[in-house]
Amino acid sequence: MASSIVSMISIFLLFAMSGHALASLSPTFYSSTCPNLTGIVRAAVQQVVASEPRMCASLVRLFFHDCHVNGCDASIMLNGSNNEQFAFPNINSLRGYNVIENIKALVEAKCPNTVSCADIIVIVARECVMALNGPTWTVTFGRRDSLTANQTAANVELPPFFLNVSRLIANFQSHGLSVQDLVALSGSHTIGQGQCGNFKSRLYGPSLSSSPDYMNPYYNQSLRSQCPSSGGDSNLSPLDLQTPVVFDNKYYKNLINFSGLFHSDQTLWSGGDWTVAQLVHTYAMNQARFFQDFATGMINMGNLKPLLAPNGQIRKYCGKVN
Ligand code: HEM
Repeated sequence: MASSIVSMISIFLLFAMSGHALASLSPTFYSSTCPNLTGIVRAAVQQVVASEPRMCASLVRLFFHDCHVNGCDASIMLNGSNNEQFAFPNINSLRGYNVIENIKALVEAKCPNTVSCADIIVIVARECVMALNGPTWTVTFGRRDSLTANQTAANVELPPFFLNVSRLIANFQSHGLSVQDLVALSGSHTIGQGQCGNFKSRLYGPSLSSSPDYMNPYYNQSLRSQCPSSGGDSNLSPLDLQTPVVFDNKYYKNLINFSGLFHSDQTLWSGGDWTVAQLVHTYAMNQARFFQDFATGMINMGNLKPLLAPNGQIRKYCGKVN
């Protein structure tokens, strides 16, 4: 008994001396090792937004696509054609890898070998939402970077644009995320752009008002000019037509107006799930409530299955393992 207590204490001391926290995530994780982390990231994000506001939308999506595949472990950042960047939902679509790499270099210059790429992705997403007038929340730190990426998991886990509401709920629940998280986090589609190939099938078929995929005819008309029936698959349209670089609750007002861009958006209002539709209505009426639940959802998504010391590593460059 005494000897096993002694060995547990020595394992603890070993970790402590090797600089590993026997840790869970914490908002103060870098307080002594990189006290100005938030300041460095905030200044960099402000420059990014000034030169290309859409990039912040892309970075929020990058957070989702990292965290929804085995937790937030920066696996999305690993280069190489077998990796997640080449998975179907990401290829020719996900962007912002260079921005994360550049911010990591700024952080490395001040706090070498200290801050994980996974944590940088998480704080950049928060700073981006704030920079576009959205809510703020407390970010926790201490995630480690993975040693591998998993393209197969990315193909299976990331929800495609054609899912209906019950499959979206199942997808989020399989990641430990609630119906409220699904509806609130989908509100990210109040910023950014989508490619014609992902919504074209909704534009040119018959659109019956009784159909769960019914689209407002005026909205349909305006999308057709950007998205012809043949070709133009990579043409971009805003996910929220009126305020694509402002983080507001317009997305939900659009859904109620049958003006959601993707099937996976409109199904939240029209898909026949009353709990989900009620949440859409609440967020459309009450932006403060949306902001509160969005912040909760981002915290929940950021904290799932964290890779903690002594597993993983602090990558020097986000694009490759050390
Ligand atoms: C609920 C299931 C979801 C589906 C099916 C979905 C699907 C998509 C698709 C198809 C695009 C456009 C990609 C392209 O055309 O290249 C997109 C864009 C985007 N998504 Fe989602 N998404 C979902 C949830 C989320 C969540 C949870 C977040 C963030 C927390 C998010 C953030 C974004 C953002 C910000 C964009 C715009 C990116 C840009 O402009 O580069 N999405 N999403």
